Amino acid sequence: MTTTQTASSTDALQFPAGFLWGSATASYQIEGAVNEGGRTPSIWDTFSHTPGRVERGDTGDVADDHYHRFREDVAMMKRLGLTTYRFSVAWPRITPQVTADSLGPVNPEGIGFYSDLVDELLAAGISPSITLYHWDLPQALEDAGGWTSRTTAERFGEYAEVVAAALGDRVPLFITLNEPWCSAYLGYASGVHAPGRTDDAAALSAVHHLNLAHGLAAASIRRASPSSRVALTLNLAWVCPETDSQQDAEAARRVDGLQNRVFLDPVLRGSYPADVQADTAAVTDWSFVQPGDLEIISAPLDVLGVNYYSPTRVRHWTRERPKEHADGHGEGHASPWIACEDVEFPFQHDRKTDMGWSIDPRGMTELLLRIAREAPGLEIMVTENGAAFPDVVNEEGRVVDTDRIDYLKSHLAAVHEAIEGGAPVTGYYLWSLLDNFEWAWGYAKRFGIVHVDYDTQVRTPKDSALFYADVIRGNALPS
Ligand code: NOJ
Repeated sequence: MTTTQTASSTDALQFPAGFLWGSATASYQIEGAVNEGGRTPSIWDTFSHTPGRVERGDTGDVADDHYHRFREDVAMMKRLGLTTYRFSVAWPRITPQVTADSLGPVNPEGIGFYSDLVDELLAAGISPSITLYHWDLPQALEDAGGWTSRTTAERFGEYAEVVAAALGDRVPLFITLNEPWCSAYLGYASGVHAPGRTDDAAALSAVHHLNLAHGLAAASIRRASPSSRVALTLNLAWVCPETDSQQDAEAARRVDGLQNRVFLDPVLRGSYPADVQADTAAVTDWSFVQPGDLEIISAPLDVLGVNYYSPTRVRHWTRERPKEHADGHGEGHASPWIACEDVEFPFQHDRKTDMGWSIDPRGMTELLLRIAREAPGLEIMVTENGAAFPDVVNEEGRVVDTDRIDYLKSHLAAVHEAIEGGAPVTGYYLWSLLDNFEWAWGYAKRFGIVHVDYDTQVRTPKDSALFYADVIRGNALPS
């Protein structure tokens, strides 16, 4: 070893003792077995089976067949050295007969599947973190209004109680919702996600009912499993105005309001941002917010989960030229950005992942430091971060995903920088363990550190998996 190598190895970025190293997945993206174990359809079954909704007509019917292969997958996690694993519970497995009026009976087979998974994880020394809602709403609830209806939030609170009561003794962390921004705006405004509606007023009512669902579920978890901790996962945006003009600042304010503050403020401050309510006054009068709701939503959290992938560059749009949609949202379909007619997302000539998302790890540091400033003392976990690249298994049986390793290195360094800067970040979950069903993109985009051959279900750890195992082993990012 040369002197330079020896010197640089001492420059490794060490993470705090006890830092949690995990990976994350979601039920509909990996499980398959959609008609087994008493499961009934979710909005993603309906959506993916509707022609034209998902690339190449892909569905989650089989996905990674994790429902049948979970023991093999947990063994893989153990080999990689994960200390924690974040997965989601499919609501239609737990109470398959739920309606707007009643939760219906609990399905023992549904609980049994997740109970076995939890036991398998614990036996492997891996701490389970459960997301209660990662977008697979029971179709029967959508038929009764979905997230535009208050009853969906009420049933969600009851469902959370069932899961926490059944598994809480073995599950230290429950995350109520994953990325309600996507559920509300992609599901009900742009329609690129299930249920595929395009109605701005419906989307804002979904925002509130998702926030309420979080609050009701948090209370249920406290009741049913007082020793478990409660989190909420948000996809917060690092919003960067293109210039320091007043007009670009206004564009940034609107995007920050709709993506960040409309979720953070009710939870952290017990109020909705007045500017967002004013901006959207022509769309809705916000009368879906009822007395007492904000008290429920703002009950203290134990952990805030932050998902970060890419920066959000914005600028004022003038009608002289066609609007750019570099964020990919709003192109060829309705926009998820309500009351943002004058905002555009300018195309960037920079490095991108296979999703077309710009790579800029500074956003990770900035977001974590922002939370630390705005919610002093609140524990933070990075509940998702990762990248899609067009990976292939080469003749030697290897997946050389150097791009992903670079992405991970720069983002882990960014997390480290935030910790040094005072952000209380206690864990990192890489998205994702396995290549999986990437929503409207189907199987075309590969986020896994483990490659999945969808014909054979053979799993092949990519080079990034070996890199991540090294990080975990040393509790450090090697230089
Ligand atoms: C966020 C979502 O939670 C996850 O389901 C998705 O696959 C990743 N981002 C990548 O788009």
